[in-house]
Amino acid sequence: MIPLARPTITADDTRAVQAVLESGNIATGSVVKEFEEKSARYIGRNHAIAVNSGTIALYLAVRVPGFRKVVLPAITCPEVLNAVVHAGAEPLVVDVDEETHNLDPRELRGDRAAGADAVVITHAYGHPARIDEIREACQSRGLTLIEDFAQSTGATYRGGRCGSFGAVSATSFYATKSLTTGHGGMVLTDSDDLGRKLRIARGDEAYEYLDSFVPLNLKITDFQAAMGIRQLERLDGFLEKRRRIAALYRAQLADMAGITLLHEQEGAMSCYYKFVIMLDSIRKETFISGMRGKGVQAGVLYDPPLHRMKIMKARYGAARRLPVAERIAEQAVSLPIFPSMSDSDVRKVCRAIGELMA
Ligand SMILES: Cc1ncc(COP(=O)(O)O)c(C=O)c1O
Repeated sequence: MIPLARPTITADDTRAVQAVLESGNIATGSVVKEFEEKSARYIGRNHAIAVNSGTIALYLAVRVPGFRKVVLPAITCPEVLNAVVHAGAEPLVVDVDEETHNLDPRELRGDRAAGADAVVITHAYGHPARIDEIREACQSRGLTLIEDFAQSTGATYRGGRCGSFGAVSATSFYATKSLTTGHGGMVLTDSDDLGRKLRIARGDEAYEYLDSFVPLNLKITDFQAAMGIRQLERLDGFLEKRRRIAALYRAQLADMAGITLLHEQEGAMSCYYKFVIMLDSIRKETFISGMRGKGVQAGVLYDPPLHRMKIMKARYGAARRLPVAERIAEQAVSLPIFPSMSDSDVRKVCRAIGELMA
């Protein structure tokens, strides 16, 4: 079976992890610090604080500054909603655009964003959101931009890396992500004051408190960080491979009837965390089971979309319709993509799609 995702772990990673294990210093120490400094430099930020998951990174990004009403795109993973709700903020879920499935900037000017103090963008599937328009809308409505770049570590928009645009940014190093430490995450900012507070909140110094937050132990270990450093060194290579696989998919699927491909926007360079297609003429359940029968794992995406999740109805009442997100939830599926995927695997996936669509 060709899986949807597979981490790229080499002898380099195992040697680095083993060296930390043998050193006897296995909790949070100098290797985590080195991982943070190298990540901050790579993304282009002053401060990077490593934590134990992407959910926690986003939770801290919302909770520590104290945002109260946060706009979110409907098409993203449920952990985004969970993090915002745990942080004590009210989620305002809005629609996404047809071309990239990212938050539609027009929503920030509309009534669904009324009363918000912050907005989380997520760079769906690794494709950067419309940063310029979103920043403009944030400025005109006094919203703080929070970037969740869990899916887009390494992706760029007009030369800047995803993660460098928000007042505060969060990412994940979960097993399927372009850079992985098994579990793990990071929160980044240029603000010295927020950087200091995030470190306290993560539990760097148990005797220190924030006025509005009692710290928790949200740290990662030096052996995870050792792996993170090695992965970071190879990240650009991983991205090149992902982009090459995506190009091969595009070439093979361009004229296939019954599916629609997403476009890469001008100025955006996706890291292709996922390769997503829209099914025009076949139900996704039929597609997924048909692909499984041909030895290929295909994935459902974000169904239900966030505004239809049970917790939204239970806490905030009946959801308004978000037509683009609802169509995506019905028709979008993801195909396998990971750096070690071979060209013949890509051809096998495309052949399987062709047979199903015939
Ligand atoms: C956009 C986004 N945010 C947050 C998360 C949560 O990260 P984690 O699984 O590390 O908690 C994920 C995925 O896992 C994600 O894709």
